[in-house]
Amino acid sequence: MGRRVGVLGAGVMGSGIAQVLAAAGHDVVCHDLSADALAAGEANVRAGRFGLGTAVERGKLSAKEADAALRRLCFTGDVERLYDTDVVVEAVPERLDLKVTVFRDLDRRCRQDTILASNSSGFPISALAAATDRPDRVIGWHWASPAPVMKLAEIVRAPSTSDATTEFVVDLAEGAGKNPVVIKDAPLAWGYVANRVYFAMVCEAARVVQEGVATAEEVDQLMIDCFRWPTGPLAMTRGAGTGWS
Ligand SMILES: NC(=O)c1ccc[n+]([C@@H]2O[C@H](COP(=O)([O-])OP(=O)(O)OC[C@H]3O[C@@H](n4cnc5c(N)ncnc54)[C@H](O)[C@@H]3O)[C@@H](O)[C@H]2O)c1
Repeated sequence: MGRRVGVLGAGVMGSGIAQVLAAAGHDVVCHDLSADALAAGEANVRAGRFGLGTAVERGKLSAKEADAALRRLCFTGDVERLYDTDVVVEAVPERLDLKVTVFRDLDRRCRQDTILASNSSGFPISALAAATDRPDRVIGWHWASPAPVMKLAEIVRAPSTSDATTEFVVDLAEGAGKNPVVIKDAPLAWGYVANRVYFAMVCEAARVVQEGVATAEEVDQLMIDCFRWPTGPLAMTRGAGTGWS
């Protein structure tokens, strides 16, 4: 069933998340404060490396499906368009103060039953839930970059998150072709599961380089050759920040 979805932030992640959910049949409104971000986000969806146009060229989507997805997707500077939605996925920069502020704001203004999901890379979901009067409807939904390609759906459940909220987001993620895994919020550690384990590896990779044992390029190459990863841990940190453009 098509849902009404809001995405807060049209940057690297928000624009990709909006694209995926529109392609999955939902009506999506993507809001950003920056007109440049909105224009860049829309351009990415239309003709970027992982956009709908490219998906059509590669035979992953028909032109008709891509057109229908674009019709369901709206990029707007009008934040009020987010308020009458079933779920809002927050994708503003990784600053806890900013996320708490936008969660407070969304809580005050969104429909009472709107689920508020965060694509934070690792902040405690319980902290965001505590900033609202709807802690049962707050959840983490961590995506990976590029959102249209990567299957990750790390669903982070705070102690207050309800079964209904979790089921709703798991269904949405599955319907969008992702592979949801529900995990517990662990407020004392940054990074949920994927980033905790990944950053442990990045720290060790950086230590190897610092000790002069190998260069960054050599570390990356060894990890690719040893584990068949598509890229090494150090190149990964550079690529993710730019949306692999
Ligand atoms: N880049 C990645 O690989 C990646 C992967 C997974 C999760 N994340 C997480 O996703 C979130 C967003 O990351 P990103 O890389 O897309 O950042 P980004 O900087 O590309 O985009 C963030 C957007 O949010 C907008 N914004 C800031 N404040 C706003 C507000 N109050 N209202 C509306 N829009 C606002 C900015 O104008 C910007 O366009 C972060 O929490 C990040 O940790 C990033």
